[in-house]
Amino acid sequence: MKKNKKLCILGTGNMGDALLSGILSARLYKKDDIVVSDISEDRLAGARAKFGIETTNNNIEACTSSRFIIIAVKPGAMKALLEEISGSLDKSNVIVSIAAGVSINRIQEWLNKDVPIIRVMPNTPVVVKEGMTAISPGPGVKDEDLSVIKKVFDSVGKAIIINEEYLNAVTGLSGSGPAYIFTIIEALSDGGVKAGLPRNTATLLAAQTVLGAARMVLETGEHTGSLRDKVTSPGGTTIEGLYRLESAGIRAALMSAVEHATRRAKEIEKGE
Ligand SMILES: NC(=O)c1ccc[n+]([C@@H]2O[C@H](COP(=O)([O-])OP(=O)(O)OC[C@H]3O[C@@H](n4cnc5c(N)ncnc54)[C@H](OP(=O)(O)O)[C@@H]3O)[C@@H](O)[C@H]2O)c1
Repeated sequence: MKKNKKLCILGTGNMGDALLSGILSARLYKKDDIVVSDISEDRLAGARAKFGIETTNNNIEACTSSRFIIIAVKPGAMKALLEEISGSLDKSNVIVSIAAGVSINRIQEWLNKDVPIIRVMPNTPVVVKEGMTAISPGPGVKDEDLSVIKKVFDSVGKAIIINEEYLNAVTGLSGSGPAYIFTIIEALSDGGVKAGLPRNTATLLAAQTVLGAARMVLETGEHTGSLRDKVTSPGGTTIEGLYRLESAGIRAALMSAVEHATRRAKEIEKGE
């Protein structure tokens, strides 16, 4: 293996695969600059076939040849993996972890070595390049390295840089959020079916409506209340629907979902 890879990805599951796809299609790096490692031969064969990229089942080899080390394994596999690769890292490397609930302090402790660490919280729509990712740099991370990693996650959606203290709230909102929205889309679709629409049509109407409304919020920059007012005519259908949502406590339900998911993220981070 060439010793001058720029980036390796340890773990080529859902997230690793999505990141690889984003990085290559945004032409952030060339295929030759990247190596991926995984314990699953099937996943590695999949990555070679899909991306024509160099692969290895040896994490240490991948780390030794690369500067940025993106770790995309499940949180439960983090401790053993960090202990395994620690000896092959030095201060010139940058560790980028996407493991949910594993703090920068914990990563440092398991590495038992002074290596710059960036902790990242993406969400599942990275697989369709519409992810929302929050990125928190640990001590000693250089600005230019942080902006490289921001570009990596911008290639699979939008990315922001935020202090690690907010990451549990990020987890409760955008991390868990896709599941809230899937539930809302399914419920809207059920409503359509109840009103007589075929299921496929109802789901299409619901999903495209969520997508369109979200793009209006992002692209117009207008306040959501003002956007809502524009489609709510006096005595019309929308105010009738809104009244039912408010009566059912939709706002309190969604606020409570985010608040409690954030609390759970804090507990998980503490190992509870
Ligand atoms: N999915 C999300 O929405 C989301 C959001 C935010 C953060 N994350 C984080 O993203 C990380 C990856 O999630 P994922 O859904 O992509 O997981 P995944 O599909 O299970 O992928 C992980 C891959 O890493 C492999 N692996 C396990 N131990 C390894 C080791 N020691 N060395 C190299 N490879 C190893 C796994 O192989 P095996 O399958 O054979 O074990 C698997 O191929 C998790 O830490 C998760 O917390 C996910």
